[in-house]
Amino acid sequence: MFDLVIHEKHLLTLQGSKGPKKGELTGQLGVIESGAIAINNGRIEAVGTIREIGDNAERLIKWSGLAMPGFVDPHTHAVFSGSREDELKMKIVGRTYLEILKAGGGILRTVKATRKSSFEQLLEETKKRADTMLLYGTTTAEMKTGYGLDFDTEMKMLEVIKKLDETHPMDIVPTFLGAHALPPEFKDADEYIDFLINDVMSEVGRRNLAKFADIFCEKGVFDAEQSRRYLSAAKKHGMIPKIHADEIENLGGVRVGAELGTISAEHLVKTSDEEIELMAEKGMIADLLPGTPHMLLSNHYAPARKFIEKGVPVALATDLNPNCWTESMQMVINLASLRMRMSPEETIVASTINAAYSIGMGDEVGSLEPGKKADIILLDVPNHMHIPYHFGVNLVNTVIKNGRIVVKEGCLT
Ligand code: NIG
Ligand code: FE
Repeated sequence: MFDLVIHEKHLLTLQGSKGPKKGELTGQLGVIESGAIAINNGRIEAVGTIREIGDNAERLIKWSGLAMPGFVDPHTHAVFSGSREDELKMKIVGRTYLEILKAGGGILRTVKATRKSSFEQLLEETKKRADTMLLYGTTTAEMKTGYGLDFDTEMKMLEVIKKLDETHPMDIVPTFLGAHALPPEFKDADEYIDFLINDVMSEVGRRNLAKFADIFCEKGVFDAEQSRRYLSAAKKHGMIPKIHADEIENLGGVRVGAELGTISAEHLVKTSDEEIELMAEKGMIADLLPGTPHMLLSNHYAPARKFIEKGVPVALATDLNPNCWTESMQMVINLASLRMRMSPEETIVASTINAAYSIGMGDEVGSLEPGKKADIILLDVPNHMHIPYHFGVNLVNTVIKNGRIVVKEGCLT
């Protein structure tokens, strides 16, 4: 007898590849009609048709819609205090993101608020966002630091992520993003990178608080050489490198990433054809974040079609931060489809199995297959094409995390 069996009209298993899906496989959903999933001890025991799996279970759920793996959100800045709604007004009248940042707004303003926040307050604010993510079907997420930019606050952010991972149903993967902006105490980016390497990274590594290290390689922020130095040091301290590259300008971040063996490069709006080929050659994953140009009022989106055509695995993420505040992977899927012309199938692969691989979780989550965590969402849709199509509402009815029902009828249990 199984702990739990779920019968559903349509099942997307996302099975069928070792590693992230690329090229034509980017559209491969592993569909089973009249499907069933059997769960024991929080893990998937068997996947097949209703006829194959049967109904011998302590608990049986019959779902007339669609079941698929929980969304994985592989790039978020979800740990922050305060908000920046007034900056939207500035953007509407034509101020750019980098202008707002230079004038002490943007990241630096959130840094001020986050430094002031106590551990408990920051945890509470982040938990609220984590709850919303879960309600919208995200069962695993990455979260970055980067609103501290000093020793104590960066540590506080890592402690918040750790605590949340221990106490929240969602699995949360921590990333150290000390190099997110130049804090006001430093006039020189090189000096700040030295400080991060010598005084902060060493402690993060010693206490094993971050799986990844990331840097904002961007004009007026950190350049390619600084990124190389920072990420090389991070590797020595046991962190896997990631890089924010080509969000606004191309500074060569992808080449640095390729050289250092980064697992992924992220944003990639301005990435050249040669760099896309280099990523394909190195097996780097492209984490694309269409919510960001959307909230920057920009018409320049990452060239998702080129990444797919050239054989780069594509993942999608919210980039959840005070400039791009959405907890919803469903919103991101809508934007990816409309603004980057990804097919419904490609957006689903990019927000499950490929997203999981981009944070080193591909063996645990992202598809429904025996041995993996039973992270399953039940959507109130007649078929998967409704996910990018029926927008602006929550299509997720039920969320199962590690075999436990954590959202039912759209409410936290
Ligand atoms: O990925 N680009 C750098 N960091 C975030 C934005 C952070 C912020 O504006 O607070 C991003 O878009
Ligand atoms: Fe980001």
